Amino acid sequence: MSLAIRQPPAKAADLLAWYDRHRRVLPWRALPGERADPYRVWVSEIMLQQTSVTAVKPYFQAFMARFPTVGALAAAPSESVMQAWAGLGYYSRARNLHACARAVATGHAGSFPDTEEGLRELPGIGAYTAGAVAAIAFDRPAAAVDGNVERVMTRLFAIAEALPGAKPLVRERVLALMPARPGDFAQALMDLGATICTPRSPACGLCPWREPCRARIAGTQETYPRKAAKKTGATRFGAAFVAMREDGAVLVRTRPAKGLLGGMVEVPGGEWRADYRLDEALADAPLPAQWHRLIFPVRHIFTHFPLELTVFTAPVPLETLAPEGMRFTPFARLKQEAFPSVFLKALEAGLEALRPG
Ligand code: ADE
Repeated sequence: MSLAIRQPPAKAADLLAWYDRHRRVLPWRALPGERADPYRVWVSEIMLQQTSVTAVKPYFQAFMARFPTVGALAAAPSESVMQAWAGLGYYSRARNLHACARAVATGHAGSFPDTEEGLRELPGIGAYTAGAVAAIAFDRPAAAVDGNVERVMTRLFAIAEALPGAKPLVRERVLALMPARPGDFAQALMDLGATICTPRSPACGLCPWREPCRARIAGTQETYPRKAAKKTGATRFGAAFVAMREDGAVLVRTRPAKGLLGGMVEVPGGEWRADYRLDEALADAPLPAQWHRLIFPVRHIFTHFPLELTVFTAPVPLETLAPEGMRFTPFARLKQEAFPSVFLKALEAGLEALRPG
């Protein structure tokens, strides 16, 4: 006879009962018994792929006020979409978001397809988003496996295989547990991962799945999910030039549409390289001026590499013309430019030096 202690099986019903009591109130989430709006669900899922619920909330509210329907988003100029996205990062997502809105508006008469397969065919909708929208907006029995769900499932079933290889196993486990309320199940998994089954110090005592959780029984919950070692790139260096005209206007340019931060706005600078020569930085200056170098560089972490930008500032005369491909943006309109975070940091550092106090 085996002496191994058998844990009870995990049941979706226990998680749903917990969700019914503890579900978070979120701006994109329907109230109990109400149908979720596929447009709001889709936008929120794309935004949530890059940052936390707390960070997304104000962006989401502002985005909905500006583009209340998929038709409104489809009809908007791309600069206005990029601007509403500025600061969220991963700008190719904003471009895809816009392309997807146009595809829904023109190819689907303004209604999102209501199946995972149909959703997958739209621009920028991958396995995760298709699963999440199909489940949350249309109550389809689809799996939406994000980082939270990976953590919950690898712990619950003590899946020792490292991610991303373990992803199909996680998916299988989610599908095998699927109850009659797929939308609530998907969101319950997300909420459990965000509030109880956290990366560090999970609140196992409060977890509706504490009894079936194999990792908790073994005391190894914090060792999941296992991850394959990731290589990050070498730090790159570069310069950012903040030129301010006597009337306060600042020299900016739009980055090429393709590539990193494509279509976003920047203050001029040269190429970012691991072997950047700071003593040759002025060769990248957009115009001749009395450039003043700031002591503290601006740091930013991209997915594939950390970046260190040295900021140079210069006041320039009122009659200065913007070099080709650049423009002077009046000070009061800087807020409306689609600066990604890295350039906002450089600009803020530069403005502080140019306009102290
Ligand atoms: N994380 C990703 N999608 C989410 C959602 N719909 N609700 C809460 N957290 C999430």
